Formats: sequence, C-alpha cells, structure tokens
Amino acid sequence: MERKAIVIGASGQIGSELVLALRKKIGISNVVSCDIKEPKSSSILKDGAFELLDVIDGEALKKVVKKHEITEVYLLAALLSATAEKNPMFAWKLNMEGLFNVLNLAKDGLVNKIFWPSSIAVFGPTSPKEDTPQKTIMEPSTVYGISKLAGERWCEYYYSQYGVDVRSLRYPGLISYKSMPGGGTTDYAVDIFYKAKKGEVFSCFLSEDTALPMMYMKDAMAATLNLMEAPAESLTIRSSYNVSSLSFTPSQLSNAIRHIKPDFKISYAPDFRQKIADSWPASIDDSKAKEDWGWEPKYDLESVVAEMLDKIEVD
Ligand code: SER
Repeated sequence: MERKAIVIGASGQIGSELVLALRKKIGISNVVSCDIKEPKSSSILKDGAFELLDVIDGEALKKVVKKHEITEVYLLAALLSATAEKNPMFAWKLNMEGLFNVLNLAKDGLVNKIFWPSSIAVFGPTSPKEDTPQKTIMEPSTVYGISKLAGERWCEYYYSQYGVDVRSLRYPGLISYKSMPGGGTTDYAVDIFYKAKKGEVFSCFLSEDTALPMMYMKDAMAATLNLMEAPAESLTIRSSYNVSSLSFTPSQLSNAIRHIKPDFKISYAPDFRQKIADSWPASIDDSKAKEDWGWEPKYDLESVVAEMLDKIEVD
C-alpha cells in the first residue's frame, strides 16, 4: 500500500526536518505538512501540500486526513517543558487532546500508523539518574512530563485494546540548525551555537555541571524513520522507546565549541529551568531500541559541534 503521511506541527524544530526527510523518502506528493500557523511564502513546507489546522479540532483533522487519504500521522504539535510550566492547563489540553484526536483516527480505521514523540521528561527526581532504564520509577515533576507519561500509557492502551499501531520515542534534547526549538529546557544546546557563531558571550540558563541527554537532529530523524519502518512484530514496547546518543553539560559543550572557536565565552545564570533539568536523567539506557529495531546513533559531540558551527546561519 502506498504511504501517505501528514506531519502535524510541521513548522516546529522537529516537524520542519521530518517533512523534508519524509518527502525524500516517500515523495513530495505523499507528505502533507500541517501547522496552526501559515508558513512563510518562502518556506520549503510550501513545496508540497500544506493544511492550516489546530490539532485540538478533531473534526477538522478528520476532514484533512480523509481529503488526502492519509495512511500515517506524525503528531509533533505540543507545548514543551518550560512553556508548559507557565501554562499548565493549556499544555495538558493541547498535549492530551491532540493525542486523543490522532489515536482515534487510527481506532476508527482512518489511518494505519501513528508516530508520537514522548520525552526524557517522563522521568523524574526519583528515577535513576545515570543510564536510566526503559522501565523504572517514573514520577515526573513537570506538567510536560506528566502529559508525556499519561500519553505513553494511552498509546499502550490503544495498542492493546484497539490494535492501534502507534510508535513512539522518548526524545532527548534535540540539536539542529534548520529551525529553532521553542519553550524547552534543552534549548540552550541550540542557542549556544548562534552566540558562538556571532562571536557573542552566551548566558546559559542552566548551571555548568547540568548533564542532560541530547541527540543530533539527523540521528533523531533516522531513529524516527527506522522505528516507523520496523516490522510491527519486532516491537516489544508500545509506550515509548528510550533512545540515547549524547550526554553532556553546558561546560563540556562550551569546551567542545572552544576547540573550534577558541575565543568563545559562556556565563551562567540558572533560572526556573534549572529545576526542570535537575529532575531529568543525565544519561539513558537504550538497549531495548538497539535490540528491537537496530537503533544506532552516528554523531558524537565533536561531529555535532563541527557541523553546527559550519551550518547554522546568523545575520
Ligand atoms: N527538549 C524537550 C524540552 O526541553 C524535552 O523533551 O522540553
């Protein structure tokens, strides 16, 4: 059967790259991008079909999915950790209702596969901090983490009760140069490159020794596409897979930047996001993803730093 995908939240940090990656894989005419905001006329999203849509509007979503005869949905529209703390009720509404609207499309037989990202935020202060296992204590202390953990339980429920083929990854902080992240606690690891490239001092909102799991966007795209193409019978996790790649502190990242830009300077001014970061793992055990569908990251810290400094565009 021909694949026809829709990426919801297509203008965001992950969405904008996923649209491109999918279009390369299954063809421009087989990938519909969708966002709550109209993209700029120069946006590459405009190369193929675009739909203006609020994912909370289940009926509108259904219409779009029927119109384009969509077979798989990638749901990326969500409020991230820092923004969610500022607007907990809206974060809960968007993150949960969006997921239900998409899960119900599959339950009603309109689409046959779903990708929905979870996050390292599902873990909390009582989870083991190093090499956090796939299955462990999960008591998230952020609104975002609570919504992702609840979402994971619903994904597993829809799989076991209704046979919905939903697949998920617990993304770490994602580092990319095409679109900016927005509202996350790991965003510093992208912002830092813009300052470094401009030759400006970077003021970091996390303390120098805060280690967090991170991943380069190209690895994240490979993980997403591979997971979606894996044979259903090889998947043993229907909540969400741990995936790991890098783990570093702001100080380690700035040292790596200094290898290329020796004059780079960083200062530290931790804010409310420090508490969020402190509640998350420092590193992740992803052996299940390796075992089940052959996950293997390619980028290490040095190659990420070199490519980021080379590719990001600053005015
Ligand atoms: N990058 C996300 C955030 O910081 C974590 O999933 O909110």
